[in-house]
Amino acid sequence: MFEALIRTIPDHPQPGIQFRDITTLLQDKQGFAAAIDALAQAYAGHQFDKVVAMEARGFIIGAALAVRLGAGFVPARKPGKLPWATISQAYQLEYGSDALEVHEDAIAPGERILLVDDLIATGGTALAAVALVRQLGGVVEQAAFVINLPELGGMQQLASAGVHGFALCQFS
Ligand code: PRP
Ligand code: ADE
Repeated sequence: MFEALIRTIPDHPQPGIQFRDITTLLQDKQGFAAAIDALAQAYAGHQFDKVVAMEARGFIIGAALAVRLGAGFVPARKPGKLPWATISQAYQLEYGSDALEVHEDAIAPGERILLVDDLIATGGTALAAVALVRQLGGVVEQAAFVINLPELGGMQQLASAGVHGFALCQFS
């Protein structure tokens, strides 16, 4: 169902990449609400202290889900954007490399964390976020995505790191 609301753009941002564009889902009021409802339903009965979401598209899904789950929100941002003291983790993407940062006081030891992003591909971004949470003593309980690209193996990478991931839909 969600697949039908997600636009695919061939060869963006570089040749060979099939870019899965969630803006078409977000601009559909029923579709966006249904996506947040479905993710909230998947975690009914779970208790999270905080959602950690990855810049930029992860913020859109993660903030909405944090409010629904009664959790705080922690932005994992691209380098140089956060104003206070940070910890940083570099990672590889399907189309390049980057780094994520969080404020060093964003997570207290033992806090239960739900990671949220729009999409998991290679898992590099998600694993960087896992490393940041763990460096601060947080516990990554679960990871939630709108889209999984199973051929890129990110969910398996997450599982190898001891984190169970869930996605609303997938593209092969
Ligand atoms: C995209 C997407 C995920 C990441 C997934 O973000 O939103 O965060 O790639 O890829 P991976 O599993 O191979 O790490 P991107 O870095 O393009 O940033 P954006 O959200 O700012 O567009
Ligand atoms: N992030 C990494 N791979 C992606 C893809 N194929 N489409 C959208 N975002 C992505």
